[in-house]
Amino acid sequence: MSGTGDGGWRTIFEPFRIKSVEPLHFTTVAEREAALERTGYNVFGLAAREVLIDLLTDSGTGAMSAEQWAAIMRGDESYAGAESWERFTAAVTNLTGLAHVIPVHQGRAAERILFAETVKLGDVVPNNTHFDTTRANIEYDRGEALDLPCEAAGDTQAEAPFKGNIDVERLEALLAERALDVPMVFLTVTNNTIGGQPVSMANVREVRALCDRYEIPLFIDAARFAENCWFVIQREEGYADRTPTEVAKELFSYADGVTMSAKKDGLANIGGFLALRDDDLAARCRALLILTEGFPTYGGLAGRDLEAIAQGLEEVLDPEYLRYRVRTAEYLAQRCWDAGVETVRPPGGHAVYLDAGSMVPHLHRDRFPAHAVVVELYRVGGIRAVEVGSVMFGPAATHELVRLALPRRVYTQSHIDYVAEVVAAVRARREQVPGYRITWEPPYLRHFTARFEPIAG
Ligand code: F0G
Repeated sequence: MSGTGDGGWRTIFEPFRIKSVEPLHFTTVAEREAALERTGYNVFGLAAREVLIDLLTDSGTGAMSAEQWAAIMRGDESYAGAESWERFTAAVTNLTGLAHVIPVHQGRAAERILFAETVKLGDVVPNNTHFDTTRANIEYDRGEALDLPCEAAGDTQAEAPFKGNIDVERLEALLAERALDVPMVFLTVTNNTIGGQPVSMANVREVRALCDRYEIPLFIDAARFAENCWFVIQREEGYADRTPTEVAKELFSYADGVTMSAKKDGLANIGGFLALRDDDLAARCRALLILTEGFPTYGGLAGRDLEAIAQGLEEVLDPEYLRYRVRTAEYLAQRCWDAGVETVRPPGGHAVYLDAGSMVPHLHRDRFPAHAVVVELYRVGGIRAVEVGSVMFGPAATHELVRLALPRRVYTQSHIDYVAEVVAAVRARREQVPGYRITWEPPYLRHFTARFEPIAG
């Protein structure tokens, strides 16, 4: 029996104790203001040492366990057929049931190799919602990346349990009309782009049935598969008594292929893989792998990285870890609501998305309200977050959000309490929060390097 989840305690119980610590970097408001001026009010330009709590991403920023560090020491750095490779490929095949495992340096390398071999001009790849790099890699091969999110996904306030689902009706209509142009159907679990929302197992099964009917392979972008499985256990009928490992195995049993960024639910700082059922496709992908990543038994990784991922894939399915993980996002969201700040609902697995409209209602869209909140979180509390709004998407933006992504096993409940306090403090002084104008921007992906200046009044 669990000492935490069953006991009704309010405390978020981090299911680990700390063996190795890393100091945080404290700065004064004056130092942070100087840093903001220097970077043109763009937090991507900050040095990490200028940041106190870094919520820029949950990717590659997690803490490894003692067992992972021990595995690192066991890393076999042989060029071909290393023991670490055997352990890695066994872990991935055991989890996914897929025979062919292709190690890569991170998720987007799996995407690049897969789409180079499968997508051509005139093709369309549907997904619940493509992550940016998935979309970019499909478009690079001149295919169309089509998002088919379910209806509830469009409403940030709808309390639906599985807002990450794909719209099965629209998928069916697409396949009925253009099945020959669809090299594969993708499902991204959890659905990062719409707020880390989960996909239900029922949805996966429906998509599998459609794929069978039209003889099209189903691929899963598994970056946050374990968090998705936890939501299935919590929210979907018939799964309450299943273990995360059982649910994950069922999830992957429906897939013909998996792309994975091990920087998320691999609990590693780098790495990923492409896992495939089809022998011929695997042979072609391996040939391309050798060209750009490395020999098939290490891909773009060191033997020690393979070890860390093999171990991470096991640890990430520990129910106590997942309880703490998902509870942390819920808790932070609740603290924000208590302070009068709205978020995407329900909170996702890896991040809380603040609705800038509820924090700085006086700022119009053309003054970049979500960007203004990002700057203020840094100025007031040294917190680094990401704008997901008009700066990132331009006029196509549908919402003005601020993503607070939670690195895995890095921050404790006190850190999260501090973040909530800073969010509340920013809201309390909202009248003083200025809007921004862009003073310089690059031709594409402007959010990374654009420069801004505050607009007085
Ligand atoms: N798929 C999803 C759903 C992702 O969220 C990411 C990365 C990738 C693929 C690409 O993996 O970074 O290892 O090449 N997401 C990060 C983020 C960057 O901050 O959300 P990668």
